[in-house]
Amino acid sequence: MSKVEVLLEEERTFYPPKEIVENSNVKQWMDAHDIPDIETLYQRSKDTEWFWGEVEKDLVEWYSPYDKVLDSSDAPFYRWFTNGKYNIVHDALDRHMGTPTEHKVAYIFESEQGNVTELTYRDLYNEVNRMANGLKSLGVGKSDRVALYMPMIPALPIAMLACARIGAVHSVVFSGYSPHALQDRIQDSGAKVLITADGFWRKGKVINLKALADEAVKGTDIEHTICYQWAQVEVSMSERDIWWHDLVAEQPDECETQVMDSEDPLFILYTSGTTGKPKGVVHAHTYSVGVALTLKWVFDLKPRDVWWCAADIGWITGHSYIVYGPLMLGVTSVLYEGAPAHPEPNRLWEMIARHGITVLYTSPTSIRMHMRFGDEWTQKDDMSSLRLLGTVGEPINPEAWIWYYENIGKSRCPIMDTWWQTETGSFVISPLPILPLKPGSATRPLPGFGAEVHDHEGKSVVNEGGSLVLTSPWPSMLHTLYNEPERYVEHYWTKSGDFISGDIARVDNDGYFWVQGRGDDVLNVSGHRIGNSEVESALVSHSSVSEAAVVGRPDDIKGEGIAAFVVLKMGVEPGDELMKILWNHVGEEIGKIARPDIIYFVDDLPKTRSGKIMRRVVRSVLVSKEVGDISTLANPEAVKEIEDAVKHNN
Ligand code: WT7
Repeated sequence: MSKVEVLLEEERTFYPPKEIVENSNVKQWMDAHDIPDIETLYQRSKDTEWFWGEVEKDLVEWYSPYDKVLDSSDAPFYRWFTNGKYNIVHDALDRHMGTPTEHKVAYIFESEQGNVTELTYRDLYNEVNRMANGLKSLGVGKSDRVALYMPMIPALPIAMLACARIGAVHSVVFSGYSPHALQDRIQDSGAKVLITADGFWRKGKVINLKALADEAVKGTDIEHTICYQWAQVEVSMSERDIWWHDLVAEQPDECETQVMDSEDPLFILYTSGTTGKPKGVVHAHTYSVGVALTLKWVFDLKPRDVWWCAADIGWITGHSYIVYGPLMLGVTSVLYEGAPAHPEPNRLWEMIARHGITVLYTSPTSIRMHMRFGDEWTQKDDMSSLRLLGTVGEPINPEAWIWYYENIGKSRCPIMDTWWQTETGSFVISPLPILPLKPGSATRPLPGFGAEVHDHEGKSVVNEGGSLVLTSPWPSMLHTLYNEPERYVEHYWTKSGDFISGDIARVDNDGYFWVQGRGDDVLNVSGHRIGNSEVESALVSHSSVSEAAVVGRPDDIKGEGIAAFVVLKMGVEPGDELMKILWNHVGEEIGKIARPDIIYFVDDLPKTRSGKIMRRVVRSVLVSKEVGDISTLANPEAVKEIEDAVKHNN
C-alpha cells in the first residue's frame, strides 16, 4: 500500500456490520430504556446521577446500598456511590457461585512453552480463598499494602483477588521492571509483603525473577516474600521467604470477603510523571462500575465470547481488562505468559485459532511489528472466530489500522480504538460497536464521560490541536495519588475543574477525537509511558554523567524511540564503550524498555535562565532540524552543540 493511498483512506469511514449493531449490548440497553438513537444516549448520559445509577444496577451487587451516586462537595476528591458497602471480589467471583458461571472457564492459560490449562470460576474462587487465608495468616489485613512482582501466570490474578478479598491494597509492579524500580515502589507504598515467582519464560529463556526480587527487598520493610514455584529454577530462600504452596497447603477453600466502603482503595499502580518520582495512582473498589460498563458496551462481550486482552497485567490494561472487568462479566479470557512472536511470528494468530478467540485487544506497537513480518504470517491460521478487534496504548496510524482491519479482521471486524490512561481506570474516548469508525480516531467520549480540547487559555477548540481535558468526573477515576494528595490536585486539575490528561489532541467537525500523543514530559515507547525525567535521573545517577536531556524520536515500530543527550563529568572520555555502559545502566535503573536507542555526547544543553533544560528545543533540533523560538535560552550556543551531535551521528 503506497503512502498516497493511505492518505486517501484516512478519510474513509467504516460501519460495523448490521448483525453486530442489532445485537449489541449497548443497543439492547438503549431499547430497554426507550432511547431511540446514540445522540439521545450521549445527551441523556450527561445526567450523572441518573445514568450511572441506572447502569450500575446491571453490573454490581452491594452489601448495602449507597446514598448518592456522586458527591462533589470535596472536589477534586470526588466520592462515588457514597456510603455503599461493597467489595469488587464479590462481583468478580462470589456472585457467580451457584450460577452456571461457576463451572465455566474463567481463564484459558497458555504458557510460552505451549502448555494449556483451564481454570473455572470455581477453581479460581478456591485458589483465591486459600491465598487470602494464607495472607491473613501472615498478618496481612484491611488497607495493608502488598507488592506483586509476577509473571503473566494465573497466580498473578489469584494474588490480586486474594488481596482485594481481605481488603488489602495490591501494588503490582511490571515484571520487566528492574530491582531498583521495584524497590522504589515498595518503599513508596510501604508494603510489608512481596509476592513473586521463581522465574518465567520469555522468548525461550528463563528469567530468574526471584533473584531480582531479592535484590529489590534489601533495605526495605518487606517482612515476607512469598514465592510461587513456576519455572522450576533454583532460587535462594531466606528465613523470611515462604513458598506459595507451603503457605496455602493447610488453608481452607472458604474465606469471608471483607466488606469495604465504596471509597476504600483497591490498588495502587505507579505511573510515570513529569518529575523523576513515579506517581502512585489509587483506584477504589467501585472503579468496577466504569470498568464493567465499558467492557460490556465497547467490546460487546456476551457469555459465549472468548476474550483476549493481550496486555500485561503489570499495566492498567491488564488490571481492568484481564482481571476485574472480564471476571465481573463472567466471560472466558485467554491469559498468555510469553512473547508475542515466539517461537514463530504467527504465535498470536495460532492462539486465536487454537482457542476460538472472538475478541482481540492489543496495541499498535504489536500490530506494526506483525506488519513487518509480512502478510503471509497472517494467512496460516483460521481466524474466522474473530468478530471484534481493539487497540490501546498510543495513537494508531491509519496504515496500521487498515492492515489490522484487513489482515486480522478480514474486513469483517470493527476496530475499537480505546483512549484511556492509568488514571482513568477505564476507557474514556472509545468507539461503540454501533458507531461509524474513522481509522486513527478513538471517536467520541463514551456515554457518561466528557472530554474537550482546550487551547492555552482553557477555551474549548475544534479542529485545532490543544490539551485534552476531561470535563466531568467518572466512576473509575483515580481517587488520589498515594501519600501525595496535593500533587494529585496540582498535577491533574485545572482551576475551572477539568481533569488534565497530559495528551495533545484535536476534535474534528463530527466531534471525533484525534489523539496526537503526550505533551513533552512523557514518552510513549511501545505503548509504555515513561517519564523523560525518569530516564534522565537514571543517566545522571551514573558516576560519569553530569547532565542529561531525554527526548522522543519517531520510531516505525515502537511509535516513539528514546534519544539521550548526555553531558559528561570533567575528564570523562566519551566513546562507544561508555555508551554501552550507560545503556545498561538505564536498563538496571528502570528496565530494558527505558534504554535509549541513541546516546549523543555533548558539552552543553540548552537551558532557560532559571536553569531548566529545554527539552522542546532539543527535540525540535533532533526531529525537525528547526529550533523555533530560543529567545528565552540562557545559552543559545548550546543549540549548535545539539545540531552538530545530530549531524555527526546521522
Ligand atoms: C497514555 C496512557 C490505557 C492503557 C495503556 C497505557 C496513550 C493510550 C491511546 C489511544 C492514543 C493513547 C495516551 C495516554 N494512549 N491509548 N487509543 N490513542 N493514545 O496507559 O501508561 O497510563 O498511558 O497512553 O498518551 O495518555 P498509560
